[in-house]
Amino acid sequence: MRVRGIEMASKDCVKVAVRVRPFNKRERDAGSRCVISMTSNNISIQDPRNPQNSRTFTFNCTYWSHSGFSRNKDGLFVPEEAGGRYADQTSVFLDLGQGILDNALQGYNATLLAYGQTGSGKSYSMVGYGPNKGLIPTLCERLFQSIRSMQDSRQCQVVDLLSKSNRSAGGLRVREDQQRGFYVEGLRRVPCDSAVQVEQLMEQGTRTRTTAATHMNANSSRSHMLIIVQLKQIFSKECITKQSNIFLVDLAGSERQRSSGSEADRLKEGTAINLSLTTLGNVISALADMALGKKVVHIPYRDSVLTKLLQSALGGNSRTVMIATLSPADICYEESLSTLRYAERAKRIQNKAVVNESPTERLVKELKAENAKLLVRLSRLGQEGRKADDETKELRRLLTHNELQIRAIQTLWEQHLQEALKDWETQYATITQERRMMQMHPYIMNINEDAQLSGVVKLFIQEGEWDIGLADNSPRALSIRGLGIQEKHAVFSNQQRRVSITPVSGSKVIVNGVSVSKRIELQHLDRLVLGSNTTYLFIGFPSDRSGEDWSRYDYDYFQSELAEAEGFHIQSLCEDQGHRPHHPDPSLLAVFYDYIKLMPMVTEANQMSKELKKGVEFKLEIKNLAMSDSKGHDLEKDIAVRVTSVESKQVWMWSKAKFVNRKFLMEEVYQQQVEGGEGADRAPLPRDRDPFWDPLEPLHLGSAHLWLQSVAFRIPLEEQVEVVGPEGTEEAILQTQLVPCSPMGLPLGEDDILIDPSELLGKRLDFQLVLDQCCGLRWVKEARNRGVQIGFRVFDCPQPLYTPAMWHNVNPLLDHRVQFTALKTSQELLSYLQSNALVLELWGLQEGSSELISCMDGLKMTQEDSIIIDKISASEHSTAENGGSDLSSSLRALHQDLEQLRNVNAALRKENSTLREQLNSARNGVENNRGRQERRSSLRPSCDAEFAKALKVFYHSMTSVRGQLQRLRRHKPSEEADLLGFRLFVDEHTYLLKDFSEQLEQCVTTLKQDVAAVVRRKREKSGIWS
Ligand SMILES: Nc1ncnc2c1ncn2[C@@H]1O[C@H](COP(=O)(O)OP(=O)(O)OP(=O)(O)O)[C@@H](O)[C@H]1O
Ligand SMILES: [Mg+2]
Repeated sequence: MRVRGIEMASKDCVKVAVRVRPFNKRERDAGSRCVISMTSNNISIQDPRNPQNSRTFTFNCTYWSHSGFSRNKDGLFVPEEAGGRYADQTSVFLDLGQGILDNALQGYNATLLAYGQTGSGKSYSMVGYGPNKGLIPTLCERLFQSIRSMQDSRQCQVVDLLSKSNRSAGGLRVREDQQRGFYVEGLRRVPCDSAVQVEQLMEQGTRTRTTAATHMNANSSRSHMLIIVQLKQIFSKECITKQSNIFLVDLAGSERQRSSGSEADRLKEGTAINLSLTTLGNVISALADMALGKKVVHIPYRDSVLTKLLQSALGGNSRTVMIATLSPADICYEESLSTLRYAERAKRIQNKAVVNESPTERLVKELKAENAKLLVRLSRLGQEGRKADDETKELRRLLTHNELQIRAIQTLWEQHLQEALKDWETQYATITQERRMMQMHPYIMNINEDAQLSGVVKLFIQEGEWDIGLADNSPRALSIRGLGIQEKHAVFSNQQRRVSITPVSGSKVIVNGVSVSKRIELQHLDRLVLGSNTTYLFIGFPSDRSGEDWSRYDYDYFQSELAEAEGFHIQSLCEDQGHRPHHPDPSLLAVFYDYIKLMPMVTEANQMSKELKKGVEFKLEIKNLAMSDSKGHDLEKDIAVRVTSVESKQVWMWSKAKFVNRKFLMEEVYQQQVEGGEGADRAPLPRDRDPFWDPLEPLHLGSAHLWLQSVAFRIPLEEQVEVVGPEGTEEAILQTQLVPCSPMGLPLGEDDILIDPSELLGKRLDFQLVLDQCCGLRWVKEARNRGVQIGFRVFDCPQPLYTPAMWHNVNPLLDHRVQFTALKTSQELLSYLQSNALVLELWGLQEGSSELISCMDGLKMTQEDSIIIDKISASEHSTAENGGSDLSSSLRALHQDLEQLRNVNAALRKENSTLREQLNSARNGVENNRGRQERRSSLRPSCDAEFAKALKVFYHSMTSVRGQLQRLRRHKPSEEADLLGFRLFVDEHTYLLKDFSEQLEQCVTTLKQDVAAVVRRKREKSGIWS
């Protein structure tokens, strides 16, 4: 959907456009759903977990590039039918690019900015792929077309941020000048007189960027790309010079902004790239606030290089367009929503664009004027004949200085251009040479996480033997860099039109996902991973190539292949949860992709740790969130990274976001150390800035569920519960009790057992949680210098409570007793007790780590020091059933049984009281009042107690049924299971299931029999009396 021709001249608000791309392969394979919809300038996004929850935004332009297109014979993506809603590259250019160009030609600065998550289509829109040229090349093409159609002489210079000779260790410096504002020092300007030249220049830029990215020893490929086109128009007749800068910015993936800052990480500031995105966000927010009339004291342009350079584009002298790109898929919902929010803020920014006069011209003009004045003064001095030697000398010096400066300004420019042109020509020759080689030899080409950089580096395997590795001192060596690459890593051989690779011992070589240690012959389109994560695609002899599409072998493909070789693939994840493999749950998919994304990063982090001798190991873990859910229902999973110190066995758990942030920081540290070289200053990083280090914190080892139902019936419960770790391991056994008690803490007797928990409503309820002992602590067994604590939280208590720490003991006695009180039992509390468990969390302590302390703030206590648990009003607390799962339906069935029993009970009571009346009238006053009362009190409790006993038996057996259910849930095939293994697993599972249903059946039958017996007995008794 697109709306023609935005009015660039109307007010100088930042124009914002959004574009949604087609599904990529990964999303299609996963059966993703599209959560984006567009109508005219509105775009809506739907929450996949809660489809009623949808948000709508309005922008200047919206582009539907998700569906309704086909590929024509030239490889162009075009609308399927004429006038279709699909927005192709041309229409995006007509709307956005043309406006930018017109503005530049009028002498305004113009900026085009692409923002969006990695892989959302920023580069596709800005640069384009293959024949589908993006905004930048088309803009250049049109620019030269307009230049040629004009008579006045105009000159176009492209500023190349990446010119090789300019790269110093710290990159280019940004300086500030009163006239120019912020500018990049030592920036190379390249003259171009055709769009083809600009395009070649860009290609060269990408090469330099790729080389930089792949030569980074750490594999971070992410950076911003900034192209500045300077346009200078000299209108000789009018004696006017107009100059404008066109900034074309393809930002790094927006998720980097979120990887730091928002999460609680000690090292919040993140890397330069992350910081620049965060700062850009802050600048945009501040400017948007300003536009809304809020008072803004400070706009933090100076906080990052990017925002310094973009100062004029944002709130300054420029006409600016931002294109926000979105993935349509449900799994990207969070990121897409955050992109839309970002864009929403950006559209409020107001700029103040003016037509530019060339600063060089002005400078020359000013200097000339000053010279004229100096000359006048000089001649006046001469006329006056005064002996003012000193003054004359000073004036002459100034004069010469100014003249030199004028000349320098005029010649420097030409000189720069000449030098740059020469430099560029030699590089261009390399590109041409490479194209020839591709038609002659097999080669390997780099595959990068950023698709724009893939296929840029090509290493040719000509006939004979070729070493590949870090070493570049032999003419028969292919030099590569990367984490875990050895001096001599492997040997390629090209003999008799066959190419093979032989890993050098100790080096890591993976071919098509499988690790190899011996010589292996390569086939066209084989995937190579060298070292930790340096990825190449093998392109065979020209005769083996048959015009197939190589683009499917992207970075994702490599990583999925690796994951699959580790036995981790999407089907396994889904079947494990009983989902149909075709429509997996989006949250499970998200976990799967996180895993694939983090896997190579973990490998790299391990390699960096090894090389920098940090002594820590990283490992991916999938955490089961059911662990912390008080209903035990939650099927969600999350990814975490376990960090272990090899020597001290200390353990840390990092969240995904923290790990990603740290990984970027590690790369920076690594890069500095490697660039610093051997002899250089290798002072160890102070701990507080070391991304590999963290203070020790208590570790959540696992949880146990203690079901609270018995409390609702005031039945005491004694239980041994199993503490289960995130991956289903048994961490410990906990001996616990739930003891209904009096306000003073005295245990209640059998007579206090309730048959109908609703009797509790509005009444006071007291019970104690007793933690007797913890047995078989795996955590302490592994290392004796460790300790544990147990944390728990009841109903709506604001914070968890913790037991004191217990150190060095595998079976520590806890003897911990806490009393809870509900002053007025509400329906909510009652439902909570009947369907929830108390989650007992086991926390691991390590020598030197802090201990967990119960925070008593906000807790209310009774006079007897019991903790009050029912403070939040009923309406605020929801106990909505999760529903859906088998477990909850079986629980519901049990509840129904219970309800029936209650009805039976009520009926019995009624019958009882009628009987009693009959009895009374039969005795007709024979007994005195006292006697009657005695009988009444002895009759009821005896029957009710029998009932209660039956119920107690029932709850005890239900506890073991529940245990069985938990076991069933955790029962999973082993990761290495083969077909036989799976068969065994299925058998076992069937057995467990059978056992479970028998136990359940047994429970209910016993209860029914018991109740029937009680009823029978009651009738018999009444029979005797009547
Ligand atoms: N509108 C579109 N039509 C067709 N394919 C698209 C479109 N937008 C993006 N793609 C495809 O999606 C993939 C990722 O796009 P692209 O490289 O532009 O992402 P990016 O936002 O630049 O990501 P990064 O932050 O990694 O640089 C590419 O293979 C590209 O061809
Ligand atoms: Mg890109």
